[in-house]
Amino acid sequence: MTLEEAMKKRHMVRKYTDKPLPADVIKLLNDRVEADNKKYNLTIQLAVNNSSAFHAVIKLLLAKGVKNYFVLAGPNTPDLDEKLGYCGADLMLYAQTLGLNTWWVGGTFNRKKLNAAAGKNKVIGVIAVGYGASQGTPHKSKAYEDIAVYEGKTPEWFYKGVEAVLLAPTALNKQAFQVTCSDTKVQITCSNGKFSGADLGLAKYHFELGAGIKNFQWDNDSQASKMHD
Ligand SMILES: Cc1cc2nc3c(=O)[nH]c(=O)nc-3n(C[C@H](O)[C@H](O)[C@H](O)COP(=O)(O)O)c2cc1C
Repeated sequence: MTLEEAMKKRHMVRKYTDKPLPADVIKLLNDRVEADNKKYNLTIQLAVNNSSAFHAVIKLLLAKGVKNYFVLAGPNTPDLDEKLGYCGADLMLYAQTLGLNTWWVGGTFNRKKLNAAAGKNKVIGVIAVGYGASQGTPHKSKAYEDIAVYEGKTPEWFYKGVEAVLLAPTALNKQAFQVTCSDTKVQITCSNGKFSGADLGLAKYHFELGAGIKNFQWDNDSQASKMHD
């Protein structure tokens, strides 16, 4: 399964089976985490089998059979949320290509305790990962015209990018995006309160995958905009 295919297959899954992650899958996930951390100066961790300092903090997740999760953390810079959104999208879709399911949880844990466990870095959430009890279902979605405007005759790549944005997970399924484009300069803005940064990063990753990064440039000058190579 490609990452593009994974975008269509990925849905939030909140219940997990007991099946453990095989060693080769753990290695692949850790390699991906390491690459993202290095590239974007983050400190994301994969906790396998509750084997982390975060265990005590996420009791609610454990009740749903969650045994493995990515802890989304990094140095507290203004673009931290967007970078973690971008890398979180990468990890969720990559996990999906490995036959796994995921669930981003940004609100239902004790943030103070989680941050204490993360030391000097800031944690914005966790992504549960494992073999889901189901594959989930597609979220209710806004339409293309609700979130996108292209000045002039719309090229195919822009449609595809926006379709991909509409597949992205967002906090409370808000999809509070505006995607605009003039010629090949694309801008995405998001207003979803404290989740705006994470949602924006998720949307940008999806747009790049759907539109193809060779077809456009980001108009907003942010870290995530410079991520693709
Ligand atoms: C930044 C962020 C925070 C989220 N926080 C929570 C949460 O606290 N609890 C929860 O059950 N789901 C949470 N979710 C999952 C969303 O509700 C879910 O992604 C959304 O409904 C879209 O569904 P989908 O993932 O199937 O596309 C969060 C998602 C994102 C992107």
